Amino acid sequence: MSVIVALDVPTGEEALAWVARLPQVTAWKVGLELFCAEGPAIVRELKMQGKRVFLDVKLHDIPNTVAGACRQLRSLEVDWLTLHASGGPAMLQAAVETFAGTTTTLLAVTALTSLDAETLAHMGIGLPLADWVERLAGQAWQAGMGGMVCAPQEVARLRRVLGPTACLITPGIRLPGEDWGDQQRVATPHQAIAAGASYVVIGRSLLQAPDPEQAWHQLPT
Ligand code: C5P
Repeated sequence: MSVIVALDVPTGEEALAWVARLPQVTAWKVGLELFCAEGPAIVRELKMQGKRVFLDVKLHDIPNTVAGACRQLRSLEVDWLTLHASGGPAMLQAAVETFAGTTTTLLAVTALTSLDAETLAHMGIGLPLADWVERLAGQAWQAGMGGMVCAPQEVARLRRVLGPTACLITPGIRLPGEDWGDQQRVATPHQAIAAGASYVVIGRSLLQAPDPEQAWHQLPT
């Protein structure tokens, strides 16, 4: 199954209610909202239930601090963990060294899917968005990361550049005809997988669907 569902809810109670309601979902993403509310306990609970866990805390700090955070997270044995590629190669290498010998796949977040070309220019980044994503991904790959988080629009290019072994995960997924919300660069799940994504992350399209069980059946297996 190539779908990871984002548990973007404020409490562990709500999160576990979703996990019980959708037993067919085997991979769940714990993001900042839930991790700030519940901490490592929610991750341990999901792992105890046999779920795969994508811990999406997007670490971004100086290498020494990131290495310290990674030492704390190592024992959780999450399946995927995110860091911001823009933290730079030394920061990413510090995480890679700390996770050496574990089964956790470290993922570098390239450009957030909520950013568009205009915002990037406003932030002072001179490269076209796709070039910037490729630059960040190349450096993160060199640093030893296991894969990238990118928008569906960039996944084909990163697959070409990084090859078949890179784990490429795309958020920014919407079902056909849906509201985009705060996302700027979106695609349907099938488009993202066809373009080369290893997994898609889906949040609101599923958890806010009028019938989540029925929406699940529209997703790629
Ligand atoms: O609800 P929606 O499907 O838009 O949720 C997307 C999820 O993916 C959110 O949990 C968000 O934090 C995460 N994400 C993202 N863009 C990135 C990395 C992660 O939207 N570049």
